[in-house]
Amino acid sequence: MIVALDHIAIAVPDLERAIKRFMEDFGLQFEGTEEVESAKTATAFFPLPATSIELVHPLRGEGPIAKYLEKKPGGIHHLCFRSDDIEADVARLKAKGYTFLSESPTLGAHDCKVIFIHPKSCDGVLIELSQPTADHH
Ligand code: CO
Repeated sequence: MIVALDHIAIAVPDLERAIKRFMEDFGLQFEGTEEVESAKTATAFFPLPATSIELVHPLRGEGPIAKYLEKKPGGIHHLCFRSDDIEADVARLKAKGYTFLSESPTLGAHDCKVIFIHPKSCDGVLIELSQPTADHH
């Protein structure tokens, strides 16, 4: 059985720049780099607490996921980081030059405040920030 999401791998053209982004801009704990000779890769890991897998599917056949699925058969669509102060995080990242898909956070799944960072700001990966607004459990 599946017991946890062990990791998500993102291919990056500039490892140092990407490490700085996840460490300094997103504030994640940096575990270190490792060169995996057998896989001919250099890796960097950022451990995180327990997470969820979200499956996303077009609602009534429309919306951004419908457009995505016109171009691809499916795939990893976005990563979502939980924030405890989304407005502050958005302001901080905007000041660093990040582009967002909307002006300010909107309500998403689980009544969370959500906003997406443009993939061009993150090596082609769509990143969502999410802050719970109420206890939905
Ligand atoms: Co999401």
